[in-house]
Amino acid sequence: MTDPLVSASDSDLFRPYRLGDLTLANRIVMAPLTRRRAGPAGVPGPLNATYYRQRATAGLIIGEATNISPQGKGNGWTPGIFNDAQVAGWRTVTDTLHAAGGHIFCQLWHTGRTSHPALQPGGVLPVAPSAIRAEGSSFTEQGPRPYVTPRPLHTDEIAGIVDDYRGATRRARAAGFDGVEIHGANGYLIDQFIRSGSNFRTDRYGGSLENRLRLVLEIAAAVVDEWGGDHVGIRISPLNQANSMHDADPATSFGTIAERLGRLGLVYLHVLEGSTRAPRGQGPQLDWQALRRGFGGTYISNNGHTRATALAARAADSADLICFGRPFIANPDLVARLRDDRPLAEIDQTTIYGMDPAGGEAGYTDYAELPA
Ligand SMILES: Cc1cc2nc3c(=O)[nH]c(=O)nc-3n(C[C@H](O)[C@H](O)[C@H](O)COP(=O)(O)O)c2cc1C
Repeated sequence: MTDPLVSASDSDLFRPYRLGDLTLANRIVMAPLTRRRAGPAGVPGPLNATYYRQRATAGLIIGEATNISPQGKGNGWTPGIFNDAQVAGWRTVTDTLHAAGGHIFCQLWHTGRTSHPALQPGGVLPVAPSAIRAEGSSFTEQGPRPYVTPRPLHTDEIAGIVDDYRGATRRARAAGFDGVEIHGANGYLIDQFIRSGSNFRTDRYGGSLENRLRLVLEIAAAVVDEWGGDHVGIRISPLNQANSMHDADPATSFGTIAERLGRLGLVYLHVLEGSTRAPRGQGPQLDWQALRRGFGGTYISNNGHTRATALAARAADSADLICFGRPFIANPDLVARLRDDRPLAEIDQTTIYGMDPAGGEAGYTDYAELPA
């Protein structure tokens, strides 16, 4: 139903937006969505290029989370951006997408404690700020495996991880991406360092807030130095509890992060507002506008958006860009459907993740567009 208060034709949701040196066709962002269809070596190919090309009408696509190093990998058949074959594979994707008029950032991922020895080179333990096991499972190539107690990183290993982010940024640039998004959300390595419930370190990367923020700020500074702030965004999820995450004072932790990252000149702050376990606006909330003001640049709002909430967010100017995740899975032409207020297709839950490295079109590239 058309919202009687805001019609699509009055809204700037469907009009261009300037993000750094890019002109996005509209203010709709496709969220990063892990689909596990990049084969055992994490090299994207023509199937992935087709999937992203089908969604090229999004103003900006945040590509699926992409491993910055072999150590960062925490799920089978996820793509990487740490070797030349992966760069060449991603080049197919970015060239195809650009030819269709789209823009794409690469989401830089290190899964930290949510990996598993079956996915680690040499079968070693995954690394983390502290030896605290999360509840849940890694999706290995042999099936789901319960998380293990990780090995705490030595202080002198951390510079190497920052370097891995820098190297992944250099490769993302060589692969033709328009920018990178630092994955600071959802309980992966960076988030594990930030939040008080997963970081019990006693060195300069743990304990006080200043220390818990050191890793994300060092990574952001390195990535900005590598490519320039116009090409660097970050995603955070201050209240998401997925992967056993908890922070004693999220308003202060993430308020401070937003301000510091704004000063480093990142082009956007992408916030998963609330918890993915609750519908939009339900459950605990932070003052998201305070984060936005503290950051000062482009603010991307995600989590549970519908056509109505997206139009309302632009009418109230509570976010610059509106990010949709799940609706893009079954609706490659989501932007046109939202603009024209046409029905959305439902996701087939059984084919979200591609378990078979040889296949994967079903539930990936075979969702139809509505006839014009
Ligand atoms: C299948 C699936 C895969 C996801 N993969 C990622 C990912 O790779 N990186 C990430 O930051 N979030 C990921 N998410 C979270 C989404 O980006 C998004 O935050 C979440 O789905 C809420 O937005 P929505 O209500 O519009 O779907 C994933 C979610 C789903 C359902």
